[in-house]
Amino acid sequence: MQHEQLLDEARILLDMVERRSTSLTESVMQLDAAAYADPGLFQRERSELFRNHAQFVGPSCMLPEPGDFYAFGDTGIPILVVRREDRSLAAFVNICSHRGAPLGEGCGQARKNRLLSCPYHGWSYDLDGNLVGLPFGKEGFNELDRATLGLRPLDVQEKDGLIFVMPNPELHFDVNDVLGGIGATMSGFGFDRHHLFGIKRVETAINWKLNMDTFHEFYHFDALHPDTIATMSYNNICHYRQYGRNHSLSSPRIGIEALRGQDERDWNIRDNVSFVNYLFPNTVIFVVGDHFQTWRVYPIDQRRSVVYHSMFVPELPQTAEAREQMEAFFQMINDVAVREDYALVEKMQVAVDSGIERRVHIGRNEPGVQNMHRQISEVLAPAQVVRLQR
Ligand code: FES
Ligand SMILES: [Fe+2]
Repeated sequence: MQHEQLLDEARILLDMVERRSTSLTESVMQLDAAAYADPGLFQRERSELFRNHAQFVGPSCMLPEPGDFYAFGDTGIPILVVRREDRSLAAFVNICSHRGAPLGEGCGQARKNRLLSCPYHGWSYDLDGNLVGLPFGKEGFNELDRATLGLRPLDVQEKDGLIFVMPNPELHFDVNDVLGGIGATMSGFGFDRHHLFGIKRVETAINWKLNMDTFHEFYHFDALHPDTIATMSYNNICHYRQYGRNHSLSSPRIGIEALRGQDERDWNIRDNVSFVNYLFPNTVIFVVGDHFQTWRVYPIDQRRSVVYHSMFVPELPQTAEAREQMEAFFQMINDVAVREDYALVEKMQVAVDSGIERRVHIGRNEPGVQNMHRQISEVLAPAQVVRLQR
């Protein structure tokens, strides 16, 4: 975010703190609780939101060098994103043309920066997806035309330091539509210049939307996080901005009021304002202090989801002690989500699964939660299965 915009956010939040106010929508939203456990709806979401819609992969700094790749299969289609020699990105369906093994998992490096090698029988592909190595090929596979056995390409695009991929190999996307302008706003955070510190994977017994809901509002800090987040951030104060299907929520950290006595030119805004940026459908990027974290949530089935929590830092720690400290901070943030949020939200999933008919009420002071459900309902509207009520 550019300095002028940061200043603007800080001014707005200082005013909100003084008035104890927050961004409000026009009306309360009501949602049928069954939307959090409906197997038919889950199938529609899996197909329309996770297969036929562009997915956030990570910031550009997740794949800094040629040959770096990231592989994940959580959308239902195994995906491999790789940085090529000319530093552009390529993406492929991560299925080997021999018998279908994935070429890699998670973050990795292509062999000698040039070759993606299958761990099963060693077929290898260059960074453009061409099949270039086939052990015992002349004898074992003499009838096959190698030129037709490359990896299946996927549409991948990188803009404003953010990487997106389309899981469905038949479809393409416009990255400007996907960003809706949020990338330009966030580009000052330096998504291309940080370093990946680590990724934590957490499986939950929670519908993916119920999982996401917890990231979109600050109304629960005092009640649920009195000893952790509520000691650092104000409860129920946030400033909401919409960008296409995405949104950004800025919130004041405790102590922001000290800025009032300072010249604006001296304001340290990053220490006093946190940002939660939502990228439709399943990602939030927290910008906190000097670094940022991404949370990507994927459905496993209608009652379970998996989250990948990644931390990106401006400099990697240089000593074992500094590394330990950073890991302790990363783990503390992860623990808050797992021990405080997820422990409670898993019980809410039990309530959903009870089948008791009821509505969920999403307040005017929960604009982020409202936006996610509104966007999902718009994408799935043709099937009219979301049952949103105003
Ligand atoms: S499945 Fe990849 S080489 Fe056999
Ligand atoms: Fe929380």
